[in-house]
Amino acid sequence: GKDGYRHYMEKELHEHPLVIGQTLQRMIDPATRKVVLPDMPCDIGAIRRCVITACGSAFYAGMVGRYWLEEIARLPVDIDVASELRYRDPPLEAGSLGLLISQSGETADTLAALRSLRNAGLPVLSILNAEHSTMARESDAVLGTVAGPEISVASTKAFTAQLTVLACLTIGVARAGGVLGDAQEEELVSALLDLPSRAAEIFSFGDDIRAMASVVAEARDVLYLGRGSAYPVAMEGALKLKEISYIHAEAYAAGEMKHGPISLIDKTVPIVATIPSGALFEKTLSNLQEAKARGGRLLAFTDERSAHRLNAIAERTIALPHVHPFVTPIIQTIAVQILAYETALLKGTDVDQPRNLAKSVTVE
Ligand code: F6R
Repeated sequence: GKDGYRHYMEKELHEHPLVIGQTLQRMIDPATRKVVLPDMPCDIGAIRRCVITACGSAFYAGMVGRYWLEEIARLPVDIDVASELRYRDPPLEAGSLGLLISQSGETADTLAALRSLRNAGLPVLSILNAEHSTMARESDAVLGTVAGPEISVASTKAFTAQLTVLACLTIGVARAGGVLGDAQEEELVSALLDLPSRAAEIFSFGDDIRAMASVVAEARDVLYLGRGSAYPVAMEGALKLKEISYIHAEAYAAGEMKHGPISLIDKTVPIVATIPSGALFEKTLSNLQEAKARGGRLLAFTDERSAHRLNAIAERTIALPHVHPFVTPIIQTIAVQILAYETALLKGTDVDQPRNLAKSVTVE
């Protein structure tokens, strides 16, 4: 049941801290504080390239994974949506690993991409929530997201569990590849172990997020902007808003705004910015200042450390808990998902069963 929540989506949003914690328990040895990867389909220290594929939200999780694997594990990554990859016939180098991400383990395009990667001779590792699914049976190895059943059509907790697994996988691959020292591993693991309690704090921002939602709910179009690993978070926020509130939303890499979408900006198009503290903060801020100068209404998700920098330009600023830059996409994701949920409530849509959508897309 819904345990007293109004919707499964609301219940599942509240399960974020638990699900992140359970997933970490499965992947980090509490005694040594080291990431422990189960049997891998190949020598992960020797992988030369990684090909990631998935659909929808799971694809955005993969995009966050790309930033992590490239930056921290120094592993070249290709990523594409499964519906494209399955027909692209790209040349695949020996020494590559196929990495699939799916909540259901049954998505038709992702399954077809899995088969084509394996036919090309790649070992395939899948990050799955449904551990008894078709993809689980057909993969060379599986990393489970310990999210429990997800009933709401819009994915929430499964997505953050996917990010949690990808973060641990990044640490494991980086260590195996000899590019992560003990001290750095300890720093990243601490950041992960800190997450369940920091994620729980996000629920104290309900009033602030509802105030933001009242701006978003009035709009016909919404622009989401972010850079680096906050860019796929912006994409996830825009997808969730479209799915459940039926408001048109697009996400752009903040630096791309001046190559086109800036012409959309006026006071009727709110801009939701995912802008955590970190190396790309100043760059993103200057993009937002440009948007503000053109009359845009800014709604910013940042953190305690940087909120004062946004107050002058943003109509609403939410100062989320400050966390290590590595794990900011996980915190930011929860916040943009709640924004979509609160907006859908104001619009009165069928939150758990949005029109035209199915939980598991088993046809092409
Ligand atoms: C978004 C959503 C979909 C799924 C996509 C992939 O909220 O639910 O975009 O993420 O259909 O589904 P799985 O992960 O089951 O392969």
